[in-house]
Amino acid sequence: LTLPPPTLRLATPDDAAPLAAFAEQAFREAFGPDNRAEDMDAYCAIAYALHRQRYELVDPARVTLLAEHDGQLAGYAQLLDGPAPACVLGPAPIELLRFYVGRPWQGRGLARALMAEAIGAAERRQARTLYLGVWERNRRAIAFYTKEGFRDVGSRPFVLGTDEQTDRVMALPLGPSRPR
Ligand SMILES: CC(C)(COP(=O)(O)OP(=O)(O)OC[C@H]1O[C@@H](n2cnc3c(N)ncnc32)[C@H](O)[C@@H]1OP(=O)(O)O)[C@@H](O)C(=O)NCCC(=O)NCCS
Repeated sequence: LTLPPPTLRLATPDDAAPLAAFAEQAFREAFGPDNRAEDMDAYCAIAYALHRQRYELVDPARVTLLAEHDGQLAGYAQLLDGPAPACVLGPAPIELLRFYVGRPWQGRGLARALMAEAIGAAERRQARTLYLGVWERNRRAIAFYTKEGFRDVGSRPFVLGTDEQTDRVMALPLGPSRPR
């Protein structure tokens, strides 16, 4: 049985409720086992609140991309155009703030397709450097970003509830100089 691959599209404000639910579930699946429940709860209550999700979907500084299969979310990515950390030296940086593929879709090529779409959206916004922060303990994500051509350029703090963690910062040049 071959299923049609997920389709990709831009999110709209109408997607706020299903996206908030999917995003929280994906975050909990990815990081719940390695963190304290209180820290996870504190972070999720703020980050995935419905009003916050609605705001993010109308924020002109963000682009949110959804992957859907059979009417269900299979993954999502969000770009944020804002100030970059000092370790990002490349020109015209934009952040890949969120990048999640649902469990059933991991290891099946969706991450690659979603990344291609995120890169296209960043380039359409005239960005020339795509950067992201990834938990230093997230080996699978770091391996995936490395395969996509991102390189480690430094670190920055990330606070999960009350836990002060370290994210690696990785960057990818866009445009003609992008590694392929
Ligand atoms: C990170 C993510 C997008 C990567 O997509 P994916 O489809 O899983 O990527 P891949 O299967 O290509 O895996 C990337 C590499 O990780 C490594 N890997 C695979 N499974 C692994 C595991 N269980 N543990 C550690 N490394 C693993 C492999 O080297 C693999 O490359 P290979 O298959 O060519 O050998 C996806 O796993 C995901 O959404 N994870 C949960 C959320 C998350 O961590 N998001 C990133 C936040 S910064």
